[in-house]
Amino acid sequence: MHLFRTIAELRIWRSQQASRSVGFVPTMGYLHEGHLALVRRARAENETVVVSIFVNPLQFGPQEDYDRYPRDLDRDLYLLEREGVDAVFAPSVSEMYPSGFSTAVVVTGPIAERLEGEARPGHFRGVATVVTRLFGLVQPQRAYFGWKDAQQVLVVQRLVQDLALPVDIVPLPTVREADGLAMSSRNVYLSPEERVAASAIPRALFAALERFRSGERAAAAFRELVQRTLTTTPVRLEYVSVSDLETFQEVEYVERPALLLVAAWIGTTRLIDNVLLDPG
Ligand code: PAJ
Repeated sequence: MHLFRTIAELRIWRSQQASRSVGFVPTMGYLHEGHLALVRRARAENETVVVSIFVNPLQFGPQEDYDRYPRDLDRDLYLLEREGVDAVFAPSVSEMYPSGFSTAVVVTGPIAERLEGEARPGHFRGVATVVTRLFGLVQPQRAYFGWKDAQQVLVVQRLVQDLALPVDIVPLPTVREADGLAMSSRNVYLSPEERVAASAIPRALFAALERFRSGERAAAAFRELVQRTLTTTPVRLEYVSVSDLETFQEVEYVERPALLLVAAWIGTTRLIDNVLLDPG
């Protein structure tokens, strides 16, 4: 497995893969089974697999956890080697953003501006900018993203379509711990008590999904059920939303596929999760 720290090294190697299909998994490292599910799918569907590891400062707000975001490159490389990855691109901040870097990719509209876009100003601008730059460097045929970050999937699909980038976006289901908690690098921030409390988030979402499967269609019923389930726990709800999968507007009745999305705080840790409500 190659480890590239510079764009120059990556470019030379990439030019030698010209005739091969390239699958790409962008990450911020501190890998878990959610990331590895994307890597395994990429490995199964492509001749060459590239993973990037880069904690992207552009997508963190000034009060956010950029400095304390967990990092363990040696462990990540060990895990990726075991999955048969061909190359890891792990650039420094100055390699990705040399002095003078002045371009941003901005997706507009509800997909980028509501919920996470509103709660984390500049976040999707940072994501869209780094993903576009990484796509330019890696030039993948396919790129793999998790539904865990559903709004990110929609933002990336939008920018790929709007900028006519020659890459297929492959979204994959959220990988969860045994008690339902969505895997996340940020779960390491949780104390043992907070970790137990955090399972209330998927419990609330799956209770709502159960109601949906029993025939409930009123979005307010799902929002209220999530609120009610969390009030008796240490989880502090930031938002709960039922958003149309296509338009990303808040919906009143779920007559087309919609996402039930939650952002919540446990102590100083912010977690997001969602489930798909698909009337079929
Ligand atoms: P990161 O949080 O490291 O996640 C990398 C990829 O793994 C994303 O596509 C994310 O949705 C996916 N992922 C994370 N947890 C998952 C889970 N439990 N199940 C399935 N997939 C999961 O998302 C980012 O990094 C960054 O924003 C990035 C796209 C790399 C741009 O900087």
